[in-house]
Amino acid sequence: MNQDNSLRGEFSSISPAEFFYRNRQMAGFGNPSQAVYSTVRELVENSIDACEEARRQPDVRVSIDEERSGVVRVTVSDNGTGVPYDEVPNAFARVLYGDKFTARQRRGTFGLGVTMAALYGQITTDSPLIVVTQTNHATGRYYQLLIDIENNQPVILSDKSHEREGPGTEVTIRLKGDLNRSRERIYDYLQLTTVASPHARMEFTINGSSILKMGWWHQLLPTPTTPSKPHPHGADLELIRRLVADAGERSLHDFLVESFQRMGKRTATRFLKFLALNPRQAMNTLGREDISRLSSALRSFDGLGRPDGKCLSPIGKDAFLTSVESVFAPSALTYGSRGPTEWSGNAFIIEGVAAIGTGARAADVPALYRFANRVPLLYDSSEDTLTKMLKRVNWVQYGVGSTTPVSIFLHLCSTKIPFKAAGKQSIASLPEIEHEVLSLLRELGRSLKKTLKRGERSVRDAQKKREFDKAMKQVAQFSAELAERDVVPSTAELIRRLFEVDHHV
Ligand SMILES: Nc1ncnc2c1ncn2[C@@H]1O[C@H](COP(=O)(O)OP(=O)(O)OP(=O)(O)O)[C@@H](O)[C@H]1O
Ligand SMILES: [Mg+2]
Repeated sequence: MNQDNSLRGEFSSISPAEFFYRNRQMAGFGNPSQAVYSTVRELVENSIDACEEARRQPDVRVSIDEERSGVVRVTVSDNGTGVPYDEVPNAFARVLYGDKFTARQRRGTFGLGVTMAALYGQITTDSPLIVVTQTNHATGRYYQLLIDIENNQPVILSDKSHEREGPGTEVTIRLKGDLNRSRERIYDYLQLTTVASPHARMEFTINGSSILKMGWWHQLLPTPTTPSKPHPHGADLELIRRLVADAGERSLHDFLVESFQRMGKRTATRFLKFLALNPRQAMNTLGREDISRLSSALRSFDGLGRPDGKCLSPIGKDAFLTSVESVFAPSALTYGSRGPTEWSGNAFIIEGVAAIGTGARAADVPALYRFANRVPLLYDSSEDTLTKMLKRVNWVQYGVGSTTPVSIFLHLCSTKIPFKAAGKQSIASLPEIEHEVLSLLRELGRSLKKTLKRGERSVRDAQKKREFDKAMKQVAQFSAELAERDVVPSTAELIRRLFEVDHHV
């Protein structure tokens, strides 16, 4: 065949860093105001993950300084695990490098977040990322790093020992950003972070002035998660091939029991009988066609129990109710949850709180706050499946739409959140998730209706309560400062007793 080579471009390949450099809007770095927000968000996510790993109550401090108009310096520090020193250059200056690729719930997913913020800082201000970190060693380390974008490799400008007050990490990034337009979103993000992580405390400072200090609403740390074995419904061809390659002479029956969750001995026997395969057949004698049959049969096999929930960390009833109450001071609230169940083999739980007396008045759909793996989602709401499901419910039937404002807080936690883009802002529509979300919303709707019928507290009461709550928080803050105490005592319990808030379940 005759080919006209003059019409063909030159073929080449680009590194992952180059890809995200060219397509930074996909990762949440599309414009200067979103860039400041995304930088804070990525650093805070990493910090809380690291504190939970260290089994310490997160104490996360965010400070933003405007160096000159349009250039800001963002610093986030935590009391987490610290980063092993030889891993720092790759973890912070190499795209798609991280330690969160296992099947358990973490805030981080892609091994991209902090590097993307560093990359954005580098290309807009030509400044390196600065990391000070300390693991359980006696001394910490200080790094200045750049990214070799073309080759996706870290470039170390400085690496020396550094004193730090105990374990943890502090990351500083200089970037071009619009602080005025992002300030409010960052405030909301940090406030909502304390709702989804009630065991964490957030502090926010702008140009040296304290803007927000809140959290530690709930003292208990979440139970640690453990990675789960693959679920049979997630057994696509690639996964099966990898597992088979490691299985050697093991029998088909033992292979199934050892490799997958929810595959007990009896279930494996039933499954192989149904497939008419010999349970004693050695794995290394399986042909290509057997493997393909095995994969499609596993994915569609019914009669498995609920997926393993130990890999998940829902907020939980007590903690979720306490945090919503502490931040929003509603007049009544109710909690519900569904799961664990799975989508394509990924375990998930959906939980929610409906709160009366907070949100927009006279709206026929409640105000929605979205969370995924304990991270508040503030952008791209209209494209999110949680928003779509909220709109699908007929709320008027549950008494919503009068003058009483109602808010719904929905938290999806999963070993894998089906985000629509690397910016982790909106959740894709999947039938399994849609079904559970709708059922939960209707359940919350039914308890809302009961509460509203039982003579809801008036909007004025809620307003009074909010004002009282605000005043009490100020008193607590002043008292703590007078007594020179770092920790501001929580006023939630006092307010609850004074206003006798109902918890309907
Ligand atoms: N504050 C921190 N404390 C401890 N480890 C950290 C911290 N920040 C980053 N890391 C390490 O660096 C790795 C890379 O972080 P990065 O934010 O790029 O990716 P990720 O958190 O794994 O996933 P995502 O792209 O979703 O954020 C993390 O997996 C973690 O191991
Ligand atoms: Mg991250």
